[in-house]
Amino acid sequence: MIKEINLSTKIAVYLLEECSDKEKKLIEAAKNATQRAYAPYSEFSVGAAVLLENGEVFSGNNQENAAYPSGLCAERTTIFFANAAFPQEKVVAMAIAACHKGNYTSDAITPCGACRQVLLETENRFRSPMKILMYSEKGIYVANSIRELLPLSFGDEMLK
Ligand code: THU
Repeated sequence: MIKEINLSTKIAVYLLEECSDKEKKLIEAAKNATQRAYAPYSEFSVGAAVLLENGEVFSGNNQENAAYPSGLCAERTTIFFANAAFPQEKVVAMAIAACHKGNYTSDAITPCGACRQVLLETENRFRSPMKILMYSEKGIYVANSIRELLPLSFGDEMLK
């Protein structure tokens, strides 16, 4: 071995009442979006909400398909929806929540690998970190950038 690389991640865990009003609103939007998910196969309803720099809030959810891989996670549905409507607006924050069999999850819902890659692209595209609020009934995991959740990432800088 020529060297060892230590990677560290900083996640803060907050109670809902410790969040700002804007954050609470975003979390509420993500929780509400779970109710509109199309998840007949997994019965795992995920909701996401993004806050854009202009104050606009967009929410979305997972959209499943009988041909399973054709479905899309809540995070990507929401980001693509927001970027399609406001391609010039920075995404400032995203909240994620999930509901299984009528209950919000007791563990924080964290984005899958493919969604992390798309969130990284969004941060790079707007040259701005995105706060990520991962909701659970017990507490909210907060990362200040997707980079905290995607160490050693592959981004556009590698293509240059
Ligand atoms: N899912 C999301 O929408 N976001 C995540 O972060 C994890 C998983 C969806 C995909 C699928 O519709 C269901 O949850 C079960 O994996």
